[in-house]
Amino acid sequence: MCGIVGYVGREQAAPILLEGLSRLEYRGYDSAGICVSADGRLQLSKSKGRLQNLIEKTENGALLPGTLGIGHTRWATHGEPNDINSHPHLSQGGKIALVHNGIIENYLELRQFLQAKGVQFASETDSEVVAQLLEFYYLQTHSVFDALYMVLHRIEGAYALGILCADEPDRIYAARKDAPLLLGYGNGCNFIASDVTALVKHTRTVAYMEDGEVAVLTRDSIRVFDAMEQEVQKERHFVDWEISAAEKGGYPHFMLKEIMEEPDAVRRTISPRLKGGRITLDDLTLTRQELEGFSRICIIACGSSYHVGVIGKYNIEKLARIPVEVTLASEFRYCDPLVDEKTLVLVISQSGETLDTMAAMREAKARGARVLSIVNVVGSSIARESDDVLYTWAGPEIAVATTKAFSTQLVLLDMIALYFADLLGRIAPERYQALVDEISRLPEKMEAILQDCKGIQHYASQYFNHESIFFIGRNLDYALGLEGSLKLKEISYIHSEAYASGELKHGTISLVEQGTLVVALSTYSPLFDKAMSNVVEVKARGAQVLALTTARHRAEMEKNADAILTIPETEDMFLPSLGVIPLQLFAYYMALQRGCDIDKPRNLAKSVTVE
Ligand code: F6R
Repeated sequence: MCGIVGYVGREQAAPILLEGLSRLEYRGYDSAGICVSADGRLQLSKSKGRLQNLIEKTENGALLPGTLGIGHTRWATHGEPNDINSHPHLSQGGKIALVHNGIIENYLELRQFLQAKGVQFASETDSEVVAQLLEFYYLQTHSVFDALYMVLHRIEGAYALGILCADEPDRIYAARKDAPLLLGYGNGCNFIASDVTALVKHTRTVAYMEDGEVAVLTRDSIRVFDAMEQEVQKERHFVDWEISAAEKGGYPHFMLKEIMEEPDAVRRTISPRLKGGRITLDDLTLTRQELEGFSRICIIACGSSYHVGVIGKYNIEKLARIPVEVTLASEFRYCDPLVDEKTLVLVISQSGETLDTMAAMREAKARGARVLSIVNVVGSSIARESDDVLYTWAGPEIAVATTKAFSTQLVLLDMIALYFADLLGRIAPERYQALVDEISRLPEKMEAILQDCKGIQHYASQYFNHESIFFIGRNLDYALGLEGSLKLKEISYIHSEAYASGELKHGTISLVEQGTLVVALSTYSPLFDKAMSNVVEVKARGAQVLALTTARHRAEMEKNADAILTIPETEDMFLPSLGVIPLQLFAYYMALQRGCDIDKPRNLAKSVTVE
């Protein structure tokens, strides 16, 4: 949600802020703004809509002189997207400019408090309350630092803050709680950002702010203080990817580029963990004895990461014979969950910052559970708070719809399933070996699918006018359908549902009529015949069927389906890893045909740091 960037240095700040925001736009894109400090003046420019409007309005920053500033790209929570509700927010007396990511839960109460003191508000946002409260205390204390701590003691909720004060034209203040914020160490300049992508062009040396910390940045130093106002020394990290990883590299969309990167991303995720024909999870401290002590595994995640968990449940239970429950993080938090020290909680998150997932993880930890997380963003909050973390090496994912991160999460979860099965002695050595060998063949098989996407493009051009589409499947194909359906609806805005095929007859089949498009997922061999019966069932009601199956079932499927996509053969447990690629491409080409803004779908944003 929302992107924040801040710069203090020797160069003109505005173009640097705008460039940083362009890399953060995927976090929110309904309005953007910057504030630059020069000679004790806070110069503000904001614009509704895409960042391009702001770039044009400020002549790419040229209209705002000054070497210190903050910027923001917004995903609206409180108050509609318009120029006034955009950030940065200026306090009534013009002393404070502030950008905020997160939600201030007690903003109404604070707003009333300030209004009673004569403060007038310009916007409807929760964020402006923080700017006004800061100025209110600053006018009393004449110290931004002291006033900021007073504010932090009063506000409730989640925040990453970037702050300028007109009277202190050499520094940026920053604070964080439950929303990501990074410090970037440059040469004669320093940065804040909500995401490393905004920094890598300028510096690869970063530090992650912790909850409760306050940072004071000048061009020559960054000082950080904890909640008790004590100075702390931050550990610095080196970001080891190139700026090109966050650029389109000739592709029309990040999403297509990221789909094409899936074989490499999976290779990077599995290779370091395959040694001498065995799975080695060096980062995992869990012992056999500890694993034996768990009565069950509970997987917690949101959205596509949740779908990885649904697939993982089938594979973990089948291989390791440990009961697995998969719960949406947003539900887990409030269901008085039955987890304790005998529960292993697996948390799955690309960003490592999803608020619901983080809150659910904290709830589980508070109840004694042990947490193992699968995370893509190194140093993110979920990664840092887990007992163990296994990183996916997908690289930066910019398109809002996840693709390569999904694939790396899935293969890593499958590796965990196999590792557990082996550790517990629940899999025969030959079977283990066959499955491990197959993991290393997956990237090649993914490449084969990607080399021939013409069929998918063709079907998309045939079906893009459908307004309602059903995905059906059994077992792993059902779980795969959940992801195929989500991908389609989020970027093409076509209504779609995923159903376990066996459930159709219990109600949903009433919606199938002449011409309804049904995507029949029939890759899972043990249930192919049953899948075929469901195809026949919907065909009999007039449905058009696009089937996804494996090469060996193609001929059989041709007898009933109207159109067929095939994937190479693999071990059953890995079918979703191959099957998801045609579904991602199908969603992509459907959205392309409909002229949708694929990388930035309406109402969505990458990294959901609000509840
Ligand atoms: C869908 C998508 C979302 C995320 C979900 C969880 O394409 O990207 O459904 O999967 O918001 O995000 P993470 O994995 O960052 O916790």
